[in-house]
Amino acid sequence: MQESFFEENSSANAQKESAGAFRDLNDLYEQSKNCRKCRLADTRTNYVFGEGNSEAKIVVIGEAPGAEEDAQGRPFVGRSGKLLDKILEAIGFSRDDVFICNIIKCRPPANRNPLADEITCCMPWLNAQLALLDPAVLLLLGKVAANTLLDNKQSMGNLRGKIIRWNGYDVIVTYHPAALLRNPNWKRQCWDDVRMLRSHYDKTIHK
Ligand code: URA
Repeated sequence: MQESFFEENSSANAQKESAGAFRDLNDLYEQSKNCRKCRLADTRTNYVFGEGNSEAKIVVIGEAPGAEEDAQGRPFVGRSGKLLDKILEAIGFSRDDVFICNIIKCRPPANRNPLADEITCCMPWLNAQLALLDPAVLLLLGKVAANTLLDNKQSMGNLRGKIIRWNGYDVIVTYHPAALLRNPNWKRQCWDDVRMLRSHYDKTIHK
């Protein structure tokens, strides 16, 4: 297994600072669910906080809610979500074993990529989630999630296939399920990535 180590950056501090501001995840949800910091508040049906096991050691992070997620207020419940469920099942996890959320909590119109100012507005909620959840491993789905969180512009080819040590987390990047639906040829690499996640979890977390 290859490893590469990134230096801590200022978002480590952002996460630590966020920890004290909320009692728990419920409190964070209550304080964030009516967020109107950016234009996406005007077009959303529902704020999509994220869901799963609040004790989870693995947090799965996607890009932003799509139409179905916006309608239901839950992450990854559309076609991509069904594939994500299968990916997790293939390595012996269910949605109840992990916490699933997105970089952006409200759907961008027509599923366009989130804009820089929308990301800036929304990152404090994700930082607070990570501070409260205190996971060991982050599974980042797709280039937008990875480039945003890791604050780089690297290609998927550079990002995936290894464990990246970042801000105290072991980060694994793989293809977004929506990309796999468009390009089934990438499933093999995704399978390699999530098997690496499982074996890392077994070796270091669930010994
Ligand atoms: N795509 C994402 O990135 N997140 C979701 O919640 C659904 C689709």
